[in-house]
Amino acid sequence: MPDLIPVLDKETIAQKVDHIARQISSDYKDADLVLIAVLKGAFIFMADLVRCLDLKKLTIDFVRLESYGDGADSSGRIRMVKDVEVDIRNKDVLIVEDILDTGLTIDYLKKHLERSQPRSVKICVMIDKFERRKVDVQAQYVGHKVTEGFLVGYGLDYAEAYRHLPGIFHLTF
Ligand code: IMP
Ligand code: MG
Repeated sequence: MPDLIPVLDKETIAQKVDHIARQISSDYKDADLVLIAVLKGAFIFMADLVRCLDLKKLTIDFVRLESYGDGADSSGRIRMVKDVEVDIRNKDVLIVEDILDTGLTIDYLKKHLERSQPRSVKICVMIDKFERRKVDVQAQYVGHKVTEGFLVGYGLDYAEAYRHLPGIFHLTF
């Protein structure tokens, strides 16, 4: 049976989300911001983040990408299952993602979005897992950094399980 080792509890996550939201609210004060969350993993982070933002104007949208099968290892292949629906041309776009690992997913998405000529594209992740990075992608807003390990909870899954957990845990096999 896999073990769940606590990494971030619900209260700590809330503090980190609030901290990121303050930075974003200040940096995008007068901007026309579009937040684009990557389904399914970022659904909880997105929901928490938007409610902490102090911005007059904000649009949200979702994409669905698949980079993993049902296991813990990346296939390296990325497929767009659902594209952006709002017009992002000349808008400031912020990608909202659960975890940045090899970077392949966000690199793919950033390049895809840039084809629609937004004014800017930046990256916001709850977890930056930097040891396995394969491409040079940097997140401007990061909740928490880890070197390695497979994390679950707060939207993150292992074979579709554990997404609903309010905290983030290290899954050991
Ligand atoms: P990347 O393309 O390798 O950066 O992987 C990003 C995607 O892989 C994330 O959106 C997650 O869906 C998944 N992923 C990477 N690491 C983990 C993890 O530790 N737990 C759960 N999902 C992960
Ligand atoms: Mg994901």
